[in-house]
Amino acid sequence: MNKSGNNNELKGIRGSILTFKGNPFKESPERCCDFIKDGLIVIADGQITDVGEYQIVKDRNKTLDKIDVYQDSVIMPGFIDCHTHYVQSSIIGSFGDKLIDWLNQYTFPVESTFKDKHVAETAAKVFFRQILSHGTTTANVFATTFEESVDAFFEESMRYNTRMISGKVLQNRNVTRSLCDKSAEESVEITEQLLKKWHGKGRQLYAVIPRFAPTSTPRQLRLAGELYQKYIDCGVYLHSHLDESVEEIKWVSELFPYIQNYAEVYDCFGMLDRLTVMAHCCVVNEYEWQLLYEKNCAAIHCPSSNLFLGGGQFKYWEAIKQPRSVKVGMGTDVGGGTGFSIIRELADAYKVAMIGSHNLDAIHSLYMATRGGAEALNLDDKIGSIKPGYEADLAVINLTPDSFTSWRLNNTSDIFEKLFALISLSPDNLVSATYVAGHKVFDRADTSQFCYSPDCSD
Ligand code: GUN
Ligand code: ZN
Repeated sequence: MNKSGNNNELKGIRGSILTFKGNPFKESPERCCDFIKDGLIVIADGQITDVGEYQIVKDRNKTLDKIDVYQDSVIMPGFIDCHTHYVQSSIIGSFGDKLIDWLNQYTFPVESTFKDKHVAETAAKVFFRQILSHGTTTANVFATTFEESVDAFFEESMRYNTRMISGKVLQNRNVTRSLCDKSAEESVEITEQLLKKWHGKGRQLYAVIPRFAPTSTPRQLRLAGELYQKYIDCGVYLHSHLDESVEEIKWVSELFPYIQNYAEVYDCFGMLDRLTVMAHCCVVNEYEWQLLYEKNCAAIHCPSSNLFLGGGQFKYWEAIKQPRSVKVGMGTDVGGGTGFSIIRELADAYKVAMIGSHNLDAIHSLYMATRGGAEALNLDDKIGSIKPGYEADLAVINLTPDSFTSWRLNNTSDIFEKLFALISLSPDNLVSATYVAGHKVFDRADTSQFCYSPDCSD
């Protein structure tokens, strides 16, 4: 270890490697990805310094002696969850209600408990363990109204040294009293303080998060939009929900009768821009797709949540229509979503596509889970690919997670058939190890399984 706690020694990870270098929705899928049967990744100081065929890379890195070897596995970039709510982890799988009733019945009561820092810390610990054990290394995450909920999240992220995006939720109407911001002005002042505290600290990034248009007054939306514009050049995000269900859209049209459609509400307040991430986008008209494209916003596909809450369904083939193709990432949307696994979201995305007379093969869907997510978050120069200069966030996929799956996978002819079957089956123990900035923070075979980063633990 050097003085700053970074480990400058070379470290290697050997196994099959799959990574993306282009967008298979726009270019020939085969040319968009690299699969190396016996590969080697070399890491120094949290970053990838070399990658390629094992023997060639080994010969180029003579001082490399520590190598983690994974047989019957595929090493991929860590998965990217572009939309979720860590504060809803304890109400996942709640029965019986559609979006607005579900918010009132389950979501608002549990989020109200996050004023208590201890509640927030416990939930953050649980959440990180869940996502890391499913190979997710970056997530774009709603906290809730209270500063405590933001601090607890980023503090836990600092311990793992994960690249995370989060922030305080702005909500000053149509929410339960205990969650309601006292005033638009104060809520935005608190947001700015939290932004200054966390944005750029280690690998942490801040997002301005109006929950969705119905839960903010026009004044709060205006101030939030101004704050976003003030900090967008520093890499601060705007994260919200858009066009999730027909009932929600009707509600928005009643609350903002003078604005033509939902996306325009956000646009009126300066919220649509290149670091804007909008979850759901299920019931989107052509005018809105065009607007999202022109403003360079990202739309996030959250299939398990959309199925579970019974709202609309995301139509990726509409989102990516040329020439106005919108950036698309995957999201678990816990606790509307039913799990923490991005791979399981891909299984649901396939079924949603099939119902819409489309499909999604392993190349397209794994791209969305990795490089596509990084592009949606404008982080594709740092994460989402296994390439020199990129941050060493990696997920190790086990091709033999159990005897049935191994037997099933024998009946495949290439790696993409294997990966597609694995996505469809989504076994719970699919990920055997997860690396964050070059450190193994999750190891399924280890008795303690989780380990904070030596670079950042406190
Ligand atoms: N729209 C506004 N808030 C929420 C939320 O917490 N979950 C989902 N799925 N949609 C929302
Ligand atoms: Zn959500």
